[in-house]
Amino acid sequence: MAKPVTRYVCQACGAVTLKWAGRCETCGEWNTIQEETVAAKPGPAARTASGSPVAFVGLAGSAEPPQRAVTGIAELDRVLGGGLVPASAVLVGGDPGIGKSTLLLQAAAALARAGKRVLYVTGEESIDQIRLRARRLGVADAPLELAAAINVRDIAAALEKAANTTLVVIDSIQTMWVDAIDSAPGTVSQVRASSFELIRLAKAGAFALVLVGHVTKDGAMAGPRVLEHMVDAVLYFEGDRGHQFRILRAVKNRYGATDEIGVFEMTELGLAEVANPSALFLAERRGNIAGSAVFAGLEGTRPVLMEVQALLAPNPAGSPRRSVVGWESGRLSMLLAVLESRAGLRLNQTDVYLNIAGGLKVNEPAADLAVAAAIASAAFERPTNPGMVYFGEVGLSGEIRQVAQAEARLKEAAKLGFDAATLPRRLAHGNRRLLAPENLRLEEIGHIADLVARFAPESEAKSAM
Ligand code: TYD
Ligand code: MG
Repeated sequence: MAKPVTRYVCQACGAVTLKWAGRCETCGEWNTIQEETVAAKPGPAARTASGSPVAFVGLAGSAEPPQRAVTGIAELDRVLGGGLVPASAVLVGGDPGIGKSTLLLQAAAALARAGKRVLYVTGEESIDQIRLRARRLGVADAPLELAAAINVRDIAAALEKAANTTLVVIDSIQTMWVDAIDSAPGTVSQVRASSFELIRLAKAGAFALVLVGHVTKDGAMAGPRVLEHMVDAVLYFEGDRGHQFRILRAVKNRYGATDEIGVFEMTELGLAEVANPSALFLAERRGNIAGSAVFAGLEGTRPVLMEVQALLAPNPAGSPRRSVVGWESGRLSMLLAVLESRAGLRLNQTDVYLNIAGGLKVNEPAADLAVAAAIASAAFERPTNPGMVYFGEVGLSGEIRQVAQAEARLKEAAKLGFDAATLPRRLAHGNRRLLAPENLRLEEIGHIADLVARFAPESEAKSAM
């Protein structure tokens, strides 16, 4: 009998060390290292036994695309790459309370209603709580099979018997427990061992496995990060509690694109799909206010319009504040430097606050032009044209650079009733024609100074504020 060994495992990144430390040397997180006891590896005798050789095959051969199970929740199906793939594992991560259980219960119920066999295992709530939630969501009649369990050995015994299953939901992986390991549920060893066993069952039983994983910032629970490489797809469910909308984002997907998002709204009756996110994000926009500009952005393959807001406040004492919500602060500093040195906009005695309205996070350089327009508009206290969208990347010499998918952005703008767009000037050579909607007026600009000049009163183009 191998003797158990004690080791120290970082609960954030999974690094193993021989002694305890206050800070993990691998990922730099504080207070994440915990003692865990595991059964020792089998002795050398077991390891030297020779295996049966694996068989190698050629690249050519029949490979059918997977038969996906479509949940009918279009926003979820799209993020998955077209539905759930048999014999695959998906991790759905997110903050506690964001709506993971709600989303998965809705998806599970939809599949069950479509005649598929769906098992839902909860380790967090009681059967009664799930039933109550199902009633609230209006899915109590769906024929899905429910169990409250945390012991992976018991769950495995049930899954091995359950034939023709399409989907198994495990809510959550941090409550699962493998009895061979002597550490608490939620530790890295338990999360890893439970997932390993459940994923093995999914591959053997050809069902889609969805693991729910909570994300915590303080490292009290093993982060889903340790699982990311074990599963086929990782989806994060995000949003903040101040806002009703939630975004499902694929950060890894072996069966689809990773830049897709699905947009939902949390309502009394659960999560509702938002087919037109631009309308939602622009809903509270007030036209004719200086410092606001509409950015025609792209989330995955999907164009989304959002409002960029800038507020400037004089700060003659020096060391002005720059504060950003929803965008990179480094990118803002760069853009302010470009506005200052290439377009003569003086902002060194001005506090700059920038916000992407609605709580969205943007990480496209294409937002540069909209941010610049919002700042220039605020600086000269002149509103942008409320029917105008902006997109384009700003380079360090002040040039406006091309961005991907201009046509999709323009089409979305026209669909939402915008009638003008400011975009990068097309290069003289080789660019194919831009297929813009007819009722959209295009203003192509080549340099940031051209943008600022639109807001500046003729005489003072060189000294804002
Ligand atoms: P939940 O799915 O339990 O979150 P998670 O599994 O990610 O921890 O969602 C919890 C929140 O959602 C809770 O604060 C209440 C809210 N909610 C609604 O607003 N409407 C609903 O119909 C449901 C079921 C939940
Ligand atoms: Mg939950």
